[in-house]
Amino acid sequence: MSKLWGGRFTKKTDQLVEEYTASIMFDKELAEEDVQGSLAHVTMLGKQGILPADDVEKIKDGLHRVLQRIKRDDIEFSIGDEDIHMNIEKTLIDDVGSVGGKLHTGRSRNDQVATDMHLWLRKRVVEFVDMLHKLQTALVEQAKGNLDTIVPGYTHLQRAQPILFAHHLMAYVSMFGRDIERLQDSYKRINVLPLGAGALAGTTFPIDRHFVAGQLKFDRVYENSLDAVSDRDFILEFLSHASIIMMHLSRLSEELILWSSTEFRFVELDDAFCTGSSIMPQKKNPDVPELVRGKTGRVYGNLVSLLTVLKSLPLAYNKDMQEDKEGMFDTVKTMQGALQLFAPMIATMKVNKEQMRQAVNKDFSNATDIADFLVGKGMPFRQAHEVIGKTVLYCIEQNKYLLDLTLDEFKQFSTLFDDRIYAVLQPEQVVNARNVYGGTAKPQVEDAIGRAEAALSETSVWVAEYLERSR
Ligand code: ARG
Repeated sequence: MSKLWGGRFTKKTDQLVEEYTASIMFDKELAEEDVQGSLAHVTMLGKQGILPADDVEKIKDGLHRVLQRIKRDDIEFSIGDEDIHMNIEKTLIDDVGSVGGKLHTGRSRNDQVATDMHLWLRKRVVEFVDMLHKLQTALVEQAKGNLDTIVPGYTHLQRAQPILFAHHLMAYVSMFGRDIERLQDSYKRINVLPLGAGALAGTTFPIDRHFVAGQLKFDRVYENSLDAVSDRDFILEFLSHASIIMMHLSRLSEELILWSSTEFRFVELDDAFCTGSSIMPQKKNPDVPELVRGKTGRVYGNLVSLLTVLKSLPLAYNKDMQEDKEGMFDTVKTMQGALQLFAPMIATMKVNKEQMRQAVNKDFSNATDIADFLVGKGMPFRQAHEVIGKTVLYCIEQNKYLLDLTLDEFKQFSTLFDDRIYAVLQPEQVVNARNVYGGTAKPQVEDAIGRAEAALSETSVWVAEYLERSR
């Protein structure tokens, strides 16, 4: 059968051109959404009296059969029919006969493809909120089991001040919380209907765009028909949010990789999430976090690609825009892979509390507190800083830690020291002294966990509601 747009042409399309311009190899991913959009469109054509009721019924029955075949993977898509839209229309016409050719009344592939992408992406966004919620849950559970685990906190990757391991994990809960908010907020810009914009200018038929929007559970319709067919901001926005999510996962990956090393030995990832070496029998490699860290690059790449594709495009639709899809699909697949593994990997991670504790005992991360002690005795902070700097230097020369010094040794540096400093220097005391909102003291971290759990329940309510809305 000839091409759906073949009328104006006298020659067959060059075989290589056909292959070069086709998108069916990847946009078949949009098959179900394409039928979903067509069902709403044809229902509207019937309601508006643009098509007679029995034509509408025949087309709808045919579309339902096509949908069943899509679900059974029972359609052989063809490059000759270029993309998913024309493949489905062809399949419909083969099924119902020439009446199927009435489906495209008042519509263009330009508003059709945009509609499919909006329908497809809004589902993915809800699924990602759900996956991030699962990861947050795993982190909160680990935090609850580590409310007494003290670990060095770092700046510049140098030991800085001791913190609760729970506090460290809860930082990631906050980060993924912002990711969830960003995705939730983007939903309102994804959930806008382009259909009815036609090729670029609208259509001569008396269509009802708001009715179609209602059918497809869109909150709004695009205000401007040119914008409707040429807007890909909603995809860019998703790709940026995905880049930030991957960056967060990559930072956590980096820490897991460091913490799993013999040098740290802070955590052990479950065997099920690691792999071995083909030559070195002793190896247990953290391949999953390494790959997540590595794959972050392609997700950034997909964002930059689409930004670049769009930057010089005149209004409205241009074929360049077909390049919006593969990067989006790839980002979704890459991020699904990462998030799917991350939640159970965190849930099954063993925390080596003893090793963390030993690390804290053998460092100077309590130095700030002893300076604060002198400040409490009336010494200006700058001077106290200097005194403790000298004390630490002395310790390093003597191969000792602050808690090893005798009171006489302390007194060489300041007569303000008394034996209460030994209590001040205990890691528990150092941690619990930071009892400010958002700080590492145990009661603060417990409160933070409580707030996170409240947010988690709000997120599950959102996911349940939006899963329904985005279907
Ligand atoms: N496959 C095309 C795309 O993904 C669909 C829209 C084609 N429109 C056109 N005027 N050629 O962008």
